[in-house]
Amino acid sequence: MRNNDEINIKNSVDELGKFGYSVCKNMIPPNVITMLIHELEKREQSGDIKTALVGRGESRKTDGAQRDVLSSWLGKESEGEQYFLAFAEKIRLSINRNLLLGLFEFESQFLHYPIGGFYKRHIDALKGNRNRIVSMVAYLNQNWIPEDGGTLAIWNDEQSINPMIEVLPSAGTVVLMLSEDIPHEARSALRERRAIAGWFRLNPSYAGQINPAN
Ligand code: OGA
Ligand code: MN
Repeated sequence: MRNNDEINIKNSVDELGKFGYSVCKNMIPPNVITMLIHELEKREQSGDIKTALVGRGESRKTDGAQRDVLSSWLGKESEGEQYFLAFAEKIRLSINRNLLLGLFEFESQFLHYPIGGFYKRHIDALKGNRNRIVSMVAYLNQNWIPEDGGTLAIWNDEQSINPMIEVLPSAGTVVLMLSEDIPHEARSALRERRAIAGWFRLNPSYAGQINPAN
């Protein structure tokens, strides 16, 4: 990892604490991006990637109106995934050190949006559920230009009508958001759009029953 990793992570986490979200460009080195794209494209070709579901457990269903994207869970098989998970672990430790959130684990999936794909305005976790606490999105799209569309719109809170910011999904950019508080939307694009979305969890135990990530 690069020497300025620690500084970038610390800055991002400080901003997350202040504003509820943060955006940091060039967080993931180009050689790692190449490895991650390779792994994702392999899954696209083998069909090892599925229409994303909305909700959890019994209520999980495909919802073409809310979301048009394919997803596939990350594992530890490839070098790119290993790097990414090690990077996420650094962020987890920094959040716990600086914001005292007591995050326990991380789950993440590759996302592949077809041309015109989208994920409409939503928040990642229900308030008070204390399940997914911090969301992270990392982008894999090389040479993305504003004309391609596909920005990530971020709102301050659920009442806001105008987004605070529109983030280009450019390779290496990493966004952190408080999962219960920050509405966001992946807008449709003129190109295929690739990303990794991940969630830092508390892994709460209800009445002695562990609630695992998957
Ligand atoms: C998500 C999400 C954003 C994006 O998967 O929950 O908000 O830019 N993704 O793909
Ligand atoms: Mn989301």
